[in-house]
Amino acid sequence: MAELTIPDSAPPADATDGVWLACIECDEPYPPFDAVRYRCEECDGLLEVRYADHPTFEAFDGHGVWRYAAALPLDDGVRLAEGGTPLYSAPRLADDLGVADLHVKHEGLNGTGSFKDRGMTVGVAVASHLGVERLACASTGNTSAALAAYGARAGMETLVLLPAGKVAAGKVAQAALHGARILEVDGNFDDCLDVVAALADAGEAYLLNSINPFRLEGQKTIAFEILEEHRERTGTYPDRIVLPVGNAGNTAALYKAFRELVAAGALDPAAVPTLTGVQAAGSAPFVAAVEDGSETVDRWDEVETIATAIRIGSPANARKALPGIRETGGTAIAVSDDAITDAQRELAESGIGVEPASAASLAGLRKLRERGVVDGDESVVCLTTGHLLKDPAAAAAAGTDPEPVPADVDGVLAHLGG
Ligand code: F0G
Repeated sequence: MAELTIPDSAPPADATDGVWLACIECDEPYPPFDAVRYRCEECDGLLEVRYADHPTFEAFDGHGVWRYAAALPLDDGVRLAEGGTPLYSAPRLADDLGVADLHVKHEGLNGTGSFKDRGMTVGVAVASHLGVERLACASTGNTSAALAAYGARAGMETLVLLPAGKVAAGKVAQAALHGARILEVDGNFDDCLDVVAALADAGEAYLLNSINPFRLEGQKTIAFEILEEHRERTGTYPDRIVLPVGNAGNTAALYKAFRELVAAGALDPAAVPTLTGVQAAGSAPFVAAVEDGSETVDRWDEVETIATAIRIGSPANARKALPGIRETGGTAIAVSDDAITDAQRELAESGIGVEPASAASLAGLRKLRERGVVDGDESVVCLTTGHLLKDPAAAAAAGTDPEPVPADVDGVLAHLGG
């Protein structure tokens, strides 16, 4: 395994309580809360949150995202029910795949049904701290649902830009009922992000897509939970974490959590799980970059997949995530829509109901196991990012068909017998 790049820990003069922002490209530091800022003013690079001190596991206390406050930029956030999701063991699937053990971290059991809540509890709190008036995001659906709910909780106006006709029904319904203004854009997610980023740059709204560095801090807590729960359950950390990739925000967030734990002396670099990303074949620019050993991702203008949550042609956090794949000795793989649907059904048959994008993780694990990239003695965690009910149409299509029967017992028995 390659060495993990450990972030600089010398706070600049204008850090606040040992917290600051820094450019991932040129290290230019910025005060964390003095102004709205998404990118480096010197080189336009992505920003990340840095800390003078990194906590060890002993500093964590409580439940959910805010258990990890010692590793976050604020002491508290806008709260609903974020984090504290279950890590299910999946022994039948492990046997079937031929791995030593398999756990499924079900992020669909966050309050709004996806991992996005973890980022929003932090990001919306920062927005409120900055005193902004309007929140906004582009979304394939889940980000908009979470932002709408957390924005409503904070009493703030929320604007969401969605690719018209390409967002699953459950997600649109959530954004609508939580009171967001929904703008349906004639374009794909990447077009929506271009537009909303320009609106944010013009000062029209505070951007809460995952290029917002504070959001990824909340999402880091997925890694903390996986490590703590896996160690409690099995006595060790997982060898590998397999996750779906869209904008690669989660991949970047998990990698950051590992680097900070290593910096704290809380995690042996040799025990860092291998990060393994999965995309749908019709939307796989990140996989192409990993395969080419590239530091950047070439945008795909045409993208299509049943896993609409990850129907993304220009992963915004690629520059943060690609080193995470490389330095942990990981890889990335593309899977077909049929393989995604099969995996969704397999998870459901183990009682774990997820949306298609989430099932990509299991589909990717199966393909990598078949290719011998994943060893049979590995202990693996699949991250499932969104709940089954997010996309009722996909679930219904993948599941069993209803059988019409008459409204009498004899008729039902005859039907069952036949
Ligand atoms: N899984 C689900 C269910 C998602 O909604 C997303 C992203 C991902 C995986 C990919 O995560 O971007 O961190 O690599 N959804 C965003 C949205 C784009 O707008 O809801 P990533």
